Amino acid sequence: MIDFNRRRMLLWAATAAALPGLCAVSPARAEDTVKIGLILPMTGGQASTGKQIDNAIKLYMQQKGDTVAGRKIEIILKDDAAVPDNTKRLAQELIVNDKVNFIAGFGVTPAALAAAPLATQAKIPEIVMAAGTSIITERSPYIVRTSFTLAQSSTIIGDWAAKNGIKKVATLTSDYAPGNDALNFFKQHFTAGGGEIVEEVKVPLANPDFAPFLQRMKDSKPDAMFVFVPAGQGGNFMKQYAERGLDKSGIKVIGPGDVMDDDLLNNMGDAALGVVTAHLYSAAHPSQMNKDFVAAYKKAFSNRPGFMAVSGYDGIHLIYEALKKTGGDTNGDKLVDAMKGMKWESPRGPISIDPETRDIVQNIYIRKLEKVDGELYNVEFETFEAVKDPGKTKK
Ligand code: PHB
Repeated sequence: MIDFNRRRMLLWAATAAALPGLCAVSPARAEDTVKIGLILPMTGGQASTGKQIDNAIKLYMQQKGDTVAGRKIEIILKDDAAVPDNTKRLAQELIVNDKVNFIAGFGVTPAALAAAPLATQAKIPEIVMAAGTSIITERSPYIVRTSFTLAQSSTIIGDWAAKNGIKKVATLTSDYAPGNDALNFFKQHFTAGGGEIVEEVKVPLANPDFAPFLQRMKDSKPDAMFVFVPAGQGGNFMKQYAERGLDKSGIKVIGPGDVMDDDLLNNMGDAALGVVTAHLYSAAHPSQMNKDFVAAYKKAFSNRPGFMAVSGYDGIHLIYEALKKTGGDTNGDKLVDAMKGMKWESPRGPISIDPETRDIVQNIYIRKLEKVDGELYNVEFETFEAVKDPGKTKK
């Protein structure tokens, strides 16, 4: 009786003897592989974020290949369902057992924060591709962000509202860190421009029912309501906004663009027409690079890419380019150094990594929701160039 492993070895030896050509192809050596632990919410309320980022990374690797600076790239995808305890456990397993060279993804702020001490301890880059609270990059010198901050868009829409005849605003924000950033930065800029906040409500992050809050919004008779809900929740919000007749009562929706995520727009219906938001990305961004990106993404996944997809696409690009610069060296300090100050053209427009904060510097566009060729799009009409995160604490 020979056991299973011995039988497999004998089989391999027999096959190798019969096919000498096969032996010339040595199996990829483990030390040649660069491993990226990708932690995303693939299930639960934030699953659309996970899907967009995972799709975009697949698309990028399909376009550019899976070898950089002579090293093969391996993605190890883990689903944390946006629960920070899961994120921490998964990051630990990826670092200790799989010996990953990067951790990446992070669909929500609490997940990005939970992983930060582990990146510091392991001295490996943590590439934040979704979460948007300003403090995140301050939590580890190994964090580099390719997504956005809520402060970037909320300050700009605050100024715009005050300058464009909006006097009274009611706010509705998701009750966790990025919602608080959105609210505080909007309020600062809108009130400095002479605006008044007439009602402030915070809604739970998990499974929010907007209906009771929308009645309060309506009763406070604002000119507009400022809304931040994370990616994936905008469709449900706009449905309840229309059901409560807020679109008919002349209360405009303004905010950062998360509520108008591209992959949800076509299900929102005409109630969303005219919504003005400030954001980093629209699928209608008129560059050739974006047209090609949208076409390739749609062909591969039968859906429109949103801002999370672009943040993932740029995140994997950053990793590829950093590896090229280090010549394939995976030393974490060298990789982070290589990323600092990097500049490139993204489907969203020109972007760079601030060498001091390791945060993204990008254009913020003001957009209006319009119908173009029968489909709903955020049409950009004003650009603020190379916006740094206004939310960094001054040292
Ligand atoms: C976050 O948790 O930081 C976050 C998630 C989704 C968004 C924006 C911010 O759309």
